Amino acid sequence: MAEKQKFYITTPIYYPSGNMHIGHTYTTVAADTMARFKKMLGYDTYFLTGTDEHGQKIETKAAEAGVTPQEYVDKIVAQTKELWKLMNIDYDDFIRTTQPRHEKIVQKIFKKFYDQGDIYKSEYEGMYCTPCESFWTPSQLVEKDGVKVCPDCGRPVEVAHEESYFFRMSKYAPWLMEYLQEHPDFIQPQSRANEMINNFLKPGLQDLCVSRTSFKWGIPVDFDPKHVVYVWLDALTNYITALGYLSEDDSLFRRYWPADVHLVGKEIVRFHTIYWPIFLHALGLPLPKKVFAHGWLLFGGDKMSKSKGNVEYAEPIVARYGVDALRYYLMREMPFGADGNYTNESLLTRMNSDLANDLGNLVSRTVAMIEKYFGGVIPEPGQEQEPDAQLRARFEALPALVEKNMDEMQFSQALAEIWKLIGDCNRYIDITQPWVLGKSEEGLPRLKTVMYYLAECVRAIAVYVFPTMPSTPEKIYAQLGVTDPALMTWESVQKFGGIRPGTQVKKGAAIFPRYDVKKELESIAAERAAQAPAPEKKPEAPKKAAPKAEAPAGPIGIEDFAKVKLIAAKIIACEKVEKSDKLLKSTLDCGNGETRTVVSGIAKWYSPDEMPGKTVVLVANLAPRKMRGVLSEGMLLCAEDAEGNLKLLTVEGGAFAPGSEIG
Ligand code: MSP
Repeated sequence: MAEKQKFYITTPIYYPSGNMHIGHTYTTVAADTMARFKKMLGYDTYFLTGTDEHGQKIETKAAEAGVTPQEYVDKIVAQTKELWKLMNIDYDDFIRTTQPRHEKIVQKIFKKFYDQGDIYKSEYEGMYCTPCESFWTPSQLVEKDGVKVCPDCGRPVEVAHEESYFFRMSKYAPWLMEYLQEHPDFIQPQSRANEMINNFLKPGLQDLCVSRTSFKWGIPVDFDPKHVVYVWLDALTNYITALGYLSEDDSLFRRYWPADVHLVGKEIVRFHTIYWPIFLHALGLPLPKKVFAHGWLLFGGDKMSKSKGNVEYAEPIVARYGVDALRYYLMREMPFGADGNYTNESLLTRMNSDLANDLGNLVSRTVAMIEKYFGGVIPEPGQEQEPDAQLRARFEALPALVEKNMDEMQFSQALAEIWKLIGDCNRYIDITQPWVLGKSEEGLPRLKTVMYYLAECVRAIAVYVFPTMPSTPEKIYAQLGVTDPALMTWESVQKFGGIRPGTQVKKGAAIFPRYDVKKELESIAAERAAQAPAPEKKPEAPKKAAPKAEAPAGPIGIEDFAKVKLIAAKIIACEKVEKSDKLLKSTLDCGNGETRTVVSGIAKWYSPDEMPGKTVVLVANLAPRKMRGVLSEGMLLCAEDAEGNLKLLTVEGGAFAPGSEIG
């Protein structure tokens, strides 16, 4: 027998900086659907997901939570695995970048690059976006409200200097350019390939800084341990370390590499289609066959993100509507590759129309009619007539259409094709009018054929929906009386006529209920209100001057005080804010190479000249806010006397370096 063809699919490994939301769920469900589909087709599939656990952001989050980074990520990883269980994600492996099997190999890879001259040591100065763990050159930054921000997430960047190791990306750029041009299918959708070539390769690829000394939570460079490996070099290699590359047992690597597809969100295409191919090429390894960038699930028109607080989580949706309804919605609602808004209303509409009306109704009508007219026994079909032949034609054309769309990662289109068969069946009932046929003896032979055709189509539909909705087929099979595994396979839908006459059907509960959209939306809103504050929701930057916060009447706990991050910061420059006689704009050195701008209402008591050199107390985690057109990134603490005069709190004697924590 010919060896099974292999199929290796991956998701990005997610940052366990907070719980996974529906955006992460979206990618993971897509990968799972694809893996289940390929397995059903007979491929030897391997599906990898995991978590990207190193980096400054995790280190900071853990410190804020008062636990070690390892404790912090362990907890979130446990919750992530629970979520994937809930979502019916059938992964083959879950890699964590803190596992020794990964760390050891990353060190080997780094050393190999160094030994072969691809990595060298130098000095770095650049703009760093901590939430994205990305360095940017000045020309890559974008301007927002007069401030240069990260082009990926739109948040402020920081100046960072450090002695670093660099990877000679420039050496490989011409090779990559040629590769991308010769392999137009490598990046999907193809428009993203042009974006990579025009935005990153044509302007000249800079060498990449691949080590950090400014924080500790990373994989140490073993021959120079004050450096940790840059998180993206660490993270990208997961796709091969998980397979045992360079380890004692590399059988999985030999079997499954190169990956057939890396599924990623569009914001991380650059890492997967520029740096990753170059790392692989430098290791002498073949490239993944495809990197597919899907769009974003938006929430209220904006990208969902843990740090923006506009997040929807899968758990409450699954608790209300079940896992298959959510999986179906995610795969059906928007074309894979494009952005789309998540709304509860569109979810409910889809559930009512596609699941309850189209699919659910078809199953219950078919089974109910077989019970009514044939005592629940699927009859032997008679002579095929025109409407039957048309239905069979749709049945027989479907495998190729579904396979083609799935191969192109067009989940939504594949489902649309399956739903055409469902629609045809419902129309077939309208055309053949079983209730009329059932009234007379002469109608019975036709009725038998109609019932058989419907039962056979419903069986096939159960097979088709399995990859997207893994727990639905069993409910359909139970009602149809199908128990033979051979009738649940991809092979069994290639040819019409699998279901056996004589099979006993049994009507059960509706497989998908119908919802009153208005009532559901009200109930969701009420549930939300009762649960406020939402998980991890952070205050939005106020549009107008915020009213002064009132202190609560009673004492507060230490945990409330701990939410405020106070640091010592040194004023390096100060000027008056234009057209304001109250405001001063100070530039602060906040330590670790970070500078910030803060606007304060103290011009009445301080002149700009006397400000530089003072070490002041900065509220460092206050949401940024625009004042007179200037973005203020924090607040300087002042004491206020009975007349309302302000005096800055300062840290005397220069005893504390900028960035020192206060509290
Ligand atoms: N750790 C990196 C990836 C390293 S891969 C070697 C990372 N992690 S992440 O936690 O930020 O996850 C990003 C990925 O999660 C996106 O690329 C996408 O797959 C998924 N999504 C997160 N939010 C999403 C939406 N709002 N919409 C769609 N997908 C989203 O980047």
